[in-house]
Amino acid sequence: MNIGVLGTGMVGNSIAGKLIDMGHAVKMGSRSADNEKAKEWVNKSGANASQGTFGDAASFGEIIFLCLHGAGTLEALDMAGIENFNDKIVIDITNPLDFSKGMPPTLFVSNTDSLGEQVQQKLPGARVVKTLNIVNSELMVNPALIPGDPDMLLCGDDGEAKKQVTTLLNDFGWKQVIDLGGIKSARNMESFVLLWVNVYQTLGNPYFALKFLTK
Ligand SMILES: NC(=O)c1ccc[n+]([C@@H]2O[C@H](COP(=O)([O-])OP(=O)(O)OC[C@H]3O[C@@H](n4cnc5c(N)ncnc54)[C@H](OP(=O)(O)O)[C@@H]3O)[C@@H](O)[C@H]2O)c1
Repeated sequence: MNIGVLGTGMVGNSIAGKLIDMGHAVKMGSRSADNEKAKEWVNKSGANASQGTFGDAASFGEIIFLCLHGAGTLEALDMAGIENFNDKIVIDITNPLDFSKGMPPTLFVSNTDSLGEQVQQKLPGARVVKTLNIVNSELMVNPALIPGDPDMLLCGDDGEAKKQVTTLLNDFGWKQVIDLGGIKSARNMESFVLLWVNVYQTLGNPYFALKFLTK
């Protein structure tokens, strides 16, 4: 399958690398067509890897991952061209983190709204699924790095899209994927990142995830 990965940071690299390992063709998108980090990734990733602008990656992808800086996400979607997302599954991994006052960060949208909802509103023709934003970039594609089969959460308004994303997450190694309902639940998934940072600062270790113990 052709997949677009918007973002050249740690998350973009991690997701794009895993997708290449799974045999997909992946185009990594950036604000500029010749981004150095994307070039580095393409050079080490073989014939199925390519790079381009956000628009190039979005039009290339049958599925599109958003691995974008939170505050730049909506701007990046505009740069990519809204029409390039129509009828596609968009997997939103972003967090609306605000580091302007240093550590710990706050959220620039929360409580009654979320970045996931804003992405869905911006892309009315796309089926947005929020997931993976609750773990670090390495765990996203390799949950077996920690013991105990952790849980992954997702939410979105389209049931069929969530089914397909669940299959993809299973292929990433997530054995248990919990569907939290509509994209509104992105509020809760994004708020979790504040607790994530708190735990990370306390443990000094980014390799942890959620496991819900139920009766
Ligand atoms: N790092 C993690 O382990 C982790 C874990 C969970 C969730 N997340 C979330 O995943 C997302 C990606 O994180 P990351 O650490 O990989 O990378 P990042 O540094 O947060 O974002 C990198 C990407 O954002 C683009 N970008 C930056 N500012 C922009 C702007 N003003 N307008 C448009 N695009 C802009 C960059 O474009 P260029 O390519 O042009 O530079 C780059 O492609 C974030 O929302 C983060 O909160 C990260």
